[in-house]
Amino acid sequence: MATVTALKTAPQPATGQGSPASPRPLLEVDGVSLEYRTPGRVVRATHQVSFDVFGADRFVLLGASGCGKSTLLKAIGGFIEPVEGEIRLDGRVVTQPGPDRIVVFQEFDQLPPWKTVLDNVMFPLLASRTLGKKDAAERAQHYLAKVGLSAFAGAFPNTLSGGMKQRVAIARALAMQPRVLLMDEPFAALDALTRRKMQEELLELWDEVRFTLLFVTHSIEEALVVGNRVGLLSPHPGRVRAEINSHAFDLQSQGGAEFQAAAQRIHRLLFNEDAPGGSPAAPAASLPDAAAALTDLNRKIA
Ligand SMILES: Nc1ncnc2c1ncn2[C@@H]1O[C@H](COP(=O)(O)OP(=O)(O)OP(=O)(O)O)[C@@H](O)[C@H]1O
Ligand SMILES: [Mg+2]
Repeated sequence: MATVTALKTAPQPATGQGSPASPRPLLEVDGVSLEYRTPGRVVRATHQVSFDVFGADRFVLLGASGCGKSTLLKAIGGFIEPVEGEIRLDGRVVTQPGPDRIVVFQEFDQLPPWKTVLDNVMFPLLASRTLGKKDAAERAQHYLAKVGLSAFAGAFPNTLSGGMKQRVAIARALAMQPRVLLMDEPFAALDALTRRKMQEELLELWDEVRFTLLFVTHSIEEALVVGNRVGLLSPHPGRVRAEINSHAFDLQSQGGAEFQAAAQRIHRLLFNEDAPGGSPAAPAASLPDAAAALTDLNRKIA
């Protein structure tokens, strides 16, 4: 994997131990291969994927459709077991789902329609016995306020827009105060304007709450805007192609020359087009190219 450190540094998490230069990762994905076994066929979704997520990171997994992003999130969520490698949260191997990892999905139908908005947000708190009814209601109200939906606490999901439903799903996830919030293309089904608004709101929310985010997308622009670090996955089966520091970019930099250059460079890295003459390079030989390209990119950013 080509790892490049930009001059603009990401916020360092408080570790409570060790030196600031080497904080312990919150989440470690260590050489993880994931497979689906169907009768007569084995599909390898990811191959020996490794990356670390630190406290308060906004780590984005970026890759083309089918490269194993959702499968990786499912494995981190504890729903799929790796055939190779290990996933560790706070140093402990992930073996099953738990309230310390909550997923927000792309689909608008992730909210039970027979429950009000407030009941939807309270439900996991009650089901996991994290809080009693009164405290769960208070915490749910708190996070509904954070996503601007206090006035809709008594509404049913079918009366909400797509963006509002996603806000409820985000409030529900944050109310559980997970160690890491997993988001699988949460804004992909929204129209462009709402998507941009939701990206802005997510960043504002992160600024306020400082949760740890692992965000999946196949949009290069969204990755650069939402993430402070971006892991690039090569097409099927997914392997980590490179990692870049995208801390310098936000919604305001979108459309600017540096942003466009970064987006184009990432496109070439993702699709392995950085070889001389424009012909695709062999994966093994291309990694030093990726490192050089990213050093160049980060120099431009700085
Ligand atoms: N239930 C399944 N059974 C068999 N193969 C599967 C299953 N789910 C996914 N796959 C395969 O695993 C690979 C990775 O799928 P995955 O859904 O993780 O990709 P993705 O990167 O999330 O794609 P997208 O951006 O389209 O959501 C694909 O080749 C897909 O066909
Ligand atoms: Mg997916």
